[in-house]
Amino acid sequence: MLGDNIIEIKGISKTFEDNKVLDNITLGIKKNEFITLLGPSGCGKTTTLKILAGFETCDEGEVIFEDKKINDLPPYERQINTVFQKYALFPHMNVYENIAFGLKIKKLSKSEIDKKVNEVLKLVDLKGFEKRKIESLSGGQQQRVAIARAIVNEPKVLLLDEPLGALDLKLRKEMQIELKRIQKQLGITFVFVTHDQEEALTMSDTVVVMNKGVIQQMGTPEDIYNEPENKFVARFIGESNITDGIMLEDFKVKFCGRIFECVDKGFDKDEDIDVVIRPEDIKIVNKEEGNLKGIVKSSVFKGVHYELEVEEESMNFILHNTKNFSIGTEIGMDIYPEDIHIMKKSGEA
Ligand SMILES: Nc1ncnc2c1ncn2[C@@H]1O[C@H](COP(=O)(O)OP(=O)(O)O)[C@@H](O)[C@H]1O
Ligand SMILES: [Mg+2]
Repeated sequence: MLGDNIIEIKGISKTFEDNKVLDNITLGIKKNEFITLLGPSGCGKTTTLKILAGFETCDEGEVIFEDKKINDLPPYERQINTVFQKYALFPHMNVYENIAFGLKIKKLSKSEIDKKVNEVLKLVDLKGFEKRKIESLSGGQQQRVAIARAIVNEPKVLLLDEPLGALDLKLRKEMQIELKRIQKQLGITFVFVTHDQEEALTMSDTVVVMNKGVIQQMGTPEDIYNEPENKFVARFIGESNITDGIMLEDFKVKFCGRIFECVDKGFDKDEDIDVVIRPEDIKIVNKEEGNLKGIVKSSVFKGVHYELEVEEESMNFILHNTKNFSIGTEIGMDIYPEDIHIMKKSGEA
């Protein structure tokens, strides 16, 4: 066994015509993990899932499932099922028939089918909906049928391609919690795809950030949020202050014309780097006291905090603060060493 990995993707690449959409993707997926591919539209998420499911082939590289290379295995022989964004339910069949469809093809007995369908109906909270027509269901209920239909086959891995994309925000939040519960209860591996960073961070054990067919960073949601490895990740994951800096020596960085103590080391002397500072990590102090000072340019209430734009001599900072400050106020800003994140230059503009 490859550690506790159920799937290993080794150096896969894929080109459509002249367009290299996956460039040497290498990735281990652990048993029972909730792993999410996160990235902007067109970065290659769906193509990666299709290669895992067997609906698409890769030009280079290997897909390993439980120690066996499965590149040439057809989809129906893989212990992997997919829930697509467009649920592709059979409109002329009722809920029960939709879920039972795959089991009938496998020629299971009527009583076995009945038992399995009832179990998953309970799991997705759709008991009593057996006879309902698909078109009479809400978007959220249709989504549950699609999930039930995929998990009734007892796959070891479930691939979910932006499954919540069509739902409104409230329902989406509810389904995020539901999906986590289902995954925990079933104890199977979920490979989830989304372009929504908040969704990825709340749901996943591991997040894989992709851009232009290349993995940018892989780690826990906390790692990705707190320690983005490059500018792309920092920008994509959340509101951030990003600026050029120079790593003078270990634990000493210069930006905004000042020298700051930081917690990073191992860079070349005077290496050009990017500095990222989260809006919630900048403390507001009296203007005489901070490491930096600036003037409040705008303030917007965001529900929990105020988002302030503060003009500093060399750049504009975004700050999140529970207290409001009126426009024109001169403030001091304090940034602690552990809140200064240093990233290698990535070429991202
Ligand atoms: N069958 C195909 N033929 C040609 N180009 C494709 C095909 N499938 C996907 N692409 C292209 O590959 C890139 C990645 O697509 P996709 O994997 O669907 O991205 P994502 O799911 O991250 O939005 C896009 O530029 C898309 O247009
Ligand atoms: Mg897609």
